[in-house]
Amino acid sequence: MTDPYLATASAYDLYALPYRAEIERALEAAVPLFRPDRGPILEIGAGSGANAGWVLDRLPAAHVLALEPSAAMRSLALGRIAGRPDWHPRITVRPEGFFDRDLPAELGGAVALGVLGHFDVGERAAVLAELAARLPAGGGVVLDLQAPARPAPVEPYEFTAATVGEIAYRGIAEARPIGGEAMRWRMTYIALDGDRVLTEETTEHVYHHPAPETFDAEAERAGFEARPLDETSTFRLLERR
Ligand SMILES: C[S@@+](CC[C@H](N)C(=O)[O-])C[C@H]1O[C@@H](n2cnc3c(N)ncnc32)[C@H](O)[C@@H]1O
Repeated sequence: MTDPYLATASAYDLYALPYRAEIERALEAAVPLFRPDRGPILEIGAGSGANAGWVLDRLPAAHVLALEPSAAMRSLALGRIAGRPDWHPRITVRPEGFFDRDLPAELGGAVALGVLGHFDVGERAAVLAELAARLPAGGGVVLDLQAPARPAPVEPYEFTAATVGEIAYRGIAEARPIGGEAMRWRMTYIALDGDRVLTEETTEHVYHHPAPETFDAEAERAGFEARPLDETSTFRLLERR
């Protein structure tokens, strides 16, 4: 089966760069919810390992359990980790998805960024229940809901651009609703040398877009208090009651 994140992984950290400061603001806001003494910080869909690395540097007592089913993304994470031998005893990168294995009985916190929409409504309820069963009271999760808040057509737009040396990298996204809370996204990644296209890769995936109030109610039912990072933010902090 083709790895759906192969195209993205070609330059993932570059494409993510414009969003990085806001992600780190959300991670910082979640620090008071992390209890590294109670268990590992679980990262669901660790991608290139940037968030896991952030946690390891920010919380010297933390261990991270990073789940990443994409081989291409995992290789980015392991490349990052290779350069930091001091992290090696404190992070485990597993090649499984969330439902592919049992989780530790206790977690010290959880990070689920850019991944929640991969789960449909039933899977989302199961994810919230599994986390709630393992987090201590006062412990929590940082996650995000991807815009649009409700399914709506998204015309093609450049969501990221960066230039490294002579090569310009561009990411273009478009999407259409396909029923219920689901949208089909089409992502195109282009590397350009001036006007010449050197590489162009397109990938499609289905993503779920629960309305923020729907998601917050689901989190409440699972035993969390949900709050947005700030009024209009797509980031959510979930605190275990
Ligand atoms: C958009 S990337 C986000 C990566 C990283 N969390 C970040 O913030 O940069 C989404 C990641 O979720 C992973 N993923 C998809 N389905 C998953 C599942 N069922 N369990 C765990 N990870 C999953 C993908 O392989 C991909 O690396």
